[in-house]
Formats: sequence, C-alpha cells, structure tokens
Amino acid sequence: MGKITLDYNNAIAVLRDIFWIGFYDQESSLHCNPYLLIDDEDVVLIDPGSIPHFPIVMRKIIDTINPAEITAIVASHQDPDVCGGLAVVEDVIGRKDLKIIAHSNTIRLIRHYGLSSDYYAVDKNDYKYLLKSGRVLEFLYTPYLHSPGAIVTYDHKTHSLFTSDIFGAVSQNWSLYAEDNFLDAMSAFHQLYMPGNDVLRKCMEKFEKLNIARILPQHGSILEGENIRLAIDHLKALPCGNDLL
Ligand SMILES: [Fe+2]
Ligand SMILES: [Fe+2]
Repeated sequence: MGKITLDYNNAIAVLRDIFWIGFYDQESSLHCNPYLLIDDEDVVLIDPGSIPHFPIVMRKIIDTINPAEITAIVASHQDPDVCGGLAVVEDVIGRKDLKIIAHSNTIRLIRHYGLSSDYYAVDKNDYKYLLKSGRVLEFLYTPYLHSPGAIVTYDHKTHSLFTSDIFGAVSQNWSLYAEDNFLDAMSAFHQLYMPGNDVLRKCMEKFEKLNIARILPQHGSILEGENIRLAIDHLKALPCGNDLL
C-alpha cells in the first residue's frame, strides 16, 4: 500500500473522535500538537498552545466543531507552548462552565495568564475526570518531566495516552506519525528538557503497566504499534539533563 499524504493545513482525524489540530510551522524544528477529543456531550481540548499558534489552531477547531461545545481544557503543564494562549481560547469558547484541568502545581502558575474559568485540580479529584457519557479521562502525575505539575492524560475508551512533553521530539523533518529516525529526534528533546534518567526511567516503568494503543505527544510524532515499546525502552536508557552536565 502506498503512503498516505496527510494535509497538515487542516485538522487530522487520528481516530473518529480524536483530532490533531496543530500548526505545521515549516520554519520551526519544534512543532506543537494540540488535540481535540470529541465525546457525546463533551469536547475536551488538550494543550491548546501559544498566542502565535492560536489563529491556526482555532480555525481548525472551528472547522471541526462549534468552539462553544468545548467543556474542558487540559493544561498538562504551564509552558507557553502548552497553554500560553488560554485566555483568548476561553474567550472564544465563551462558556461559564468551562473547566481548566491541571495539577495544583500547574494551576498556581497558570493563574498568571489571566484566566476566568474554574479550575479542576486533578490531584484533588482522584486524578480522574468523568465525561457525561461515562467515559473516563485518567491523569498520571509525572513530576519534573519536565515541570513540578506535569501530568499525562489517559483516555480509557481508546487507550490513547496524551503525554505532553514526554515522548516529545525536535527535528526539521516533522511528520505527524513517527518515521524511521524518530528515536534520534526524541533523544535531542529529552536531553535538553528532561531532568535526568532516574526520573524519566521511573515514569517509563509506570507507563509500561498501561495498555497503550497510541501515544500522542505535544511535540514530535504520534507513536503506535511497535514504536511504543521502542520509545519506552529508548527513554528508559537515555541519559538526559543533569546526567549530561
Ligand atoms: Fe514544556
Ligand atoms: Fe512543550
């Protein structure tokens, strides 16, 4: 079968209810991947991104759904590339009952983005968020990877793991789905942004216990099939951050 060419100018369905809605910036080696999870009565936006990415990300949201249908936004950590544009995003959504889902260590910092929505602190809610359909989003606490409030989101229905910076990658030749050289691109990012192998390895040991169908990181490429095992084994052994000083 020939390779399918994806149109990065538009939202891309990863599954029928999970969409990649990122900005493919050909000038940058660090691509950001916001995702939209569309459930019956809930739409969850994951790591919506920065102010410069806002026009393109929001256009892709509007192409896919009515932004007013978004009921919750996950901010996996506080970085500007993850959620620097939150104030304008919540403005467009315009819902009084919109929830910003994050860890308390993240909420303490993202307050400074000047947000008006209510926060949903995962650490005070059993690390779970229940959608109206009964679908469960579970959060795993991944402290210092690379932020004290970092979380990942596990969708029990589709076994999708949204990992934010973990499994992130930097490379000039980006593709939405991992290609041959993906481990090298992942190494470069983790060596720069992750604190050390001891922390990273423990996190990988936690992930190994999950039934993961796909990993959807906030940078780099989506991992499926055999690539999941390859990536976990690779990061388990990778010296990074403090190990390299
Ligand atoms: Fe980050
Ligand atoms: Fe990031």
